[in-house]
Amino acid sequence: MALLNDQLTKRDLAHIWHPCSQMSEYRSGKLPLLAIERGEGVWLYDYDGARYLDAISSWWVNLFGHSQPYIAEAIARQARSLEHCIFAGYTHEGATRLAERIVKIAPKGLNRVFFADNGSAAVEVSLKMAFHYFANRGENRPLVISLAGGYHGETLGALAAGGAELYKRIYAPILIQTLQAKSPALCEEKEAIADMRRLLEENRGKVCAAIVEPLVQCAGDMAMYDPSYLRALRNLCDEFDVLLIADEIATGFGRTGTMFAFDQTDVSPDLTTLSKGLTGGFLPLSLVLTSDRIYEAFCLDDYGEKTFLHSHSYTGNAIACAAANATLDIFESRDVIGENKIKARLIADRLSIVAKNKRVANARQKGMIAAFDLIGVKYNRDLTVRVTREAIKRGVMFRPLGKTIYVMPPYAIAHSEIDFLFDAIEEIIAAL
Ligand SMILES: Cc1ncc(COP(=O)(O)O)c(C=O)c1O
Repeated sequence: MALLNDQLTKRDLAHIWHPCSQMSEYRSGKLPLLAIERGEGVWLYDYDGARYLDAISSWWVNLFGHSQPYIAEAIARQARSLEHCIFAGYTHEGATRLAERIVKIAPKGLNRVFFADNGSAAVEVSLKMAFHYFANRGENRPLVISLAGGYHGETLGALAAGGAELYKRIYAPILIQTLQAKSPALCEEKEAIADMRRLLEENRGKVCAAIVEPLVQCAGDMAMYDPSYLRALRNLCDEFDVLLIADEIATGFGRTGTMFAFDQTDVSPDLTTLSKGLTGGFLPLSLVLTSDRIYEAFCLDDYGEKTFLHSHSYTGNAIACAAANATLDIFESRDVIGENKIKARLIADRLSIVAKNKRVANARQKGMIAAFDLIGVKYNRDLTVRVTREAIKRGVMFRPLGKTIYVMPPYAIAHSEIDFLFDAIEEIIAAL
């Protein structure tokens, strides 16, 4: 009899089209499609009992481990009292409390909270708000500036705002027009600032917003840069009267060593997008935070074009809010950021050993994100497949980005599990 995993993946492949996947790789068996029955801590278990360390927090969403009991219980409790209700014209305690708590910990001045239900949707909201804010002032500013190599999601607006050509080139004819400035992660900071200034000058009065992933361009090969760039960008946005959008969907909730990446500066963005870790990795939910100034530009005696008429059916979902409140409870009950500092140091120690390998370059780290590039090996799709297979063999779940291998583990990772992970990384490099 076929193993349970094989049976399930066969049934899956008969109907399911997976995200960000070349399905022919699963169909031909080039890449395994793993069937996961349950999760606990940093581990995901397949139906035949094998386990895999989730080194990427299941696309960067998981914070405190899979099936974390406190969050699971909060969700179950909420589902028994109110699962969901329309959020236009109605509210509930969970959403209200979540908004109050987020505003308290967010960068200063971000007092207003708009709810959406996934990261890309939050980015769409932030772009529409930026454009609409100026429209309400009587200005037509259709352009958005983002950074080369940036990533903001896959819906058309978010895709257009991104700078990762692989994801967007084919859709170019149906995307809104955006401009990409040089990234401080990919050139000297001075050069990146000068390039941003040039674009702002050349398009004066036409740009509504600059959108960046603060400190780490995650999908863009985990390219990292310093907080000083954000400070300079804030000044430029003020000088040109352009809104600054911080996309903290991946960097938020402690990933880069502070609650929000922007906390490593002494300035605030005009809008911030949050998702992923917001619910501890349990449920889709996203938020767009903004200032009173922007909110007031929409808060008029007019149910018409000046109103922000954006909505999603599941906006403010009560169960997702319960998961987010439970996640914030954990942040409040323990010094998560402090605990992560110790874990990040252990990761840094092991990364420094990996960095000495002659097949490794550009080892880099911000908090609970560590990455390096493979060199001296021919880069093509087969390399990604080989790395993925070698990792699975050793009980580790990776998703390499081109020639970049990265770890972004759940904060629940134990010291011994960090060692397990880096032992596997060293073996994988040796096996290539
Ligand atoms: C910085 C950033 N913005 C936006 C998104 C899109 O979020 P979602 O996948 O929930 O649509 C992602 C997803 O990886 C991201 O990393």
